[in-house]
Parts: sequence; structure tokens; C-alpha cells
Amino acid sequence: MNTPRPFTPRPEPLDHETNGDEQYGDYEGGELDAAAADSAGRQHLKVPEPAPLTEHGPARVIAVANQKGGVGKTTSTINLGAALAEYGRKVLLVDFDPQGALSVGLGVQAHELETTIYNLLMERGAEIDDIIRPTNVEGMDLLPSNIDLSAAEVQLVTEVGREQALGRAIKPVLDRYDVILIDCQPSLGLLTINALACAEAILIPLACEFFSLRGVALLMDTIDKVQQRLNPDLKILGILATMFDPRTLHTKEVRQRVIEAFGDLVFEAVINRTVRFPETTVAGEPITTWAPASNGAQSYRLLAREVLAR
Ligand SMILES: Nc1ncnc2c1ncn2[C@@H]1O[C@H](COP(=O)(O)OP(=O)(O)OP(=O)(O)O)[C@@H](O)[C@H]1O
Ligand SMILES: [Mg+2]
Repeated sequence: MNTPRPFTPRPEPLDHETNGDEQYGDYEGGELDAAAADSAGRQHLKVPEPAPLTEHGPARVIAVANQKGGVGKTTSTINLGAALAEYGRKVLLVDFDPQGALSVGLGVQAHELETTIYNLLMERGAEIDDIIRPTNVEGMDLLPSNIDLSAAEVQLVTEVGREQALGRAIKPVLDRYDVILIDCQPSLGLLTINALACAEAILIPLACEFFSLRGVALLMDTIDKVQQRLNPDLKILGILATMFDPRTLHTKEVRQRVIEAFGDLVFEAVINRTVRFPETTVAGEPITTWAPASNGAQSYRLLAREVLAR
């Protein structure tokens, strides 16, 4: 038996919300439909509203990683971060991809920055407070990066403690934030290993497409090695199904296979494929502020509640 989720009425849309979704249709029943597709018999528990906080820190550090490209790592980092900030959490987003897509997605001209996370990793005396910048989302800050970071990957190789460089860099601010999300690059190279070495948990976005499970074994193997050699406390926080197209059978089948493979590790939140997300990148803001009532914004809020409940 599949229990339908409680229906949340949709508030009046903003002007720009009525545009641009025609390509996929603004499918409001995405979550419900995904739940119905879950024939593995999982219980659909209501995810509680998080309790307000009276003080902040120490931060839970979460790496958003998958070596497969274009699965929604950066989009999920921005929007999960913004949803957590809506719930009153102090959030730091770490752009740990030399492409700088996270920074750009938050409206920062990454290539023009003089100092980035690269300086923090490679220069003695670089101050994290000089590099962290606020975003337009209240309670959410950004540690930006740009192409300079690609040099760090090469330079770090010869350093002692090369896997702990990011952990050392963010240590001074752990007490200031509730959640630190690290947006990893699509590789299992030294930068991603640095993220896994300092994280309490990994969140894995997985696109609902054929072949999405390819490469997951390698990712699991890497997590295993990091647990054994660098960070015994590293956990898998969960697997997030992204690029879900409720109109195709195949995307439902893929999600079903993911659930069969990973069971309760799979978040109930499902991120539908919609042009809203590319739009938000152009707008330089999260979907939670760009289209606050959209299905995408609601899904990332559900994800935020699940993350806080795990
Ligand atoms: N749910 C979605 N529906 C439609 N498009 C999406 C969705 N999520 C992300 N996108 C778009 O897909 C592209 C890739 O997304 P994103 O950059 O978040 O993935 P990524 O895993 O970080 O990629 P990379 O591996 O290159 O870092 C972007 O253009 C983004 O706007
Ligand atoms: Mg990315």
C-alpha cells in the first residue's frame, strides 16, 4: 500500500514562475508520483519540521559528490543550502570545483576574484574571513573558487597531509555554522578526497537516467577507502534522485532500481527535471527565492528536513 503524502496548497506564483516551465510542464504531483513508484514497500514517514535553533554550530560537514558529471551536485548544494537557511540554519557553501559553477550560480563573477579557496589551501597566512562572502540568502555564506583551484590539485600532491588541506582550511569556522556543504568536482581526484576526508557524511545526487548506476560501485569503493585510511567516521547521508521526469516510465524504473539497491538511504525528496533550474543559474539565485512556491523549491525543502532528521 502506498500512502499518499499530505497535500500542501501552492501559494500564488510569482510572475516569473509562470514562464518557462512549458517544456516539461509544471508537474505538481512529482513527489506523490515518485512515492507511488516506490513499490519496494518503504514506509513514507512524515518528515518533521526542524526545531528552531537558539545557538549555532558546531557544523556538520557534508560533501555533495558523484564523479559523474551533470547529475545536479552544484544545483543541489545551492538549493539544499538555501532551504536549510530558510529553516534558520547557518550555512556555508564551499565551492570545491575549479569550474566555479557554485560561485557563478550564486551570482559571483568567479573568474574576477583575486582570492579564493585556492589561496586558503596554498598560502600560509591566508585568512578564511577575507575569502568567505555573504550570499543574497540570509544565513548562507560562500567560500568561492575559480580555475585557480585546478593548480592546487597539482601542487597538493607533493605536500605532507595533502588529503587534509580542506579540513585544515575550514576548521576555524566550524563553530560558526550549522551545516557546511562542499560542492565537489566530477572526479574522484585529490580535491574530492579532501572533501571526503573532512566530511561527516556524503550526499550523492544520482540522475534518474540509464547508466546512472554505472560508476556508483567505484564511488562506494572510494568511500570505503577513505573510511579505512583517512576518515573512519564518514557516512553516506543519502542518495538523492535528480532529473526525475514523472512522465516517463524509464525514469521511474531507474529510481525504483536505485531504491532496490540502496533502500532507506534514498531520500524521499525527488528532484524533477525542469527548466527552472537552468533559469536559476542565469538568475544567480536559488530556486527557493527565484520560484519559492515551485515544485523544485518544495522538493529541496523536503530534502532539507530529511537531512536535518538524519
Ligand atoms: N532538476 C533539474 N532539472 C533540469 N535541469 C537541471 C536540474 N538540476 C540541474 N540541472 C541543470 O543541469 C546542469 C548540470 O547541473 P549541475 O551543474 O547542478 O550538475 P553537477 O553535477 O554539479 O555538474 P558537474 O559534474 O559538471 O559539476 C546545469 O545546467 C543545471 O542547471
Ligand atoms: Mg557542479
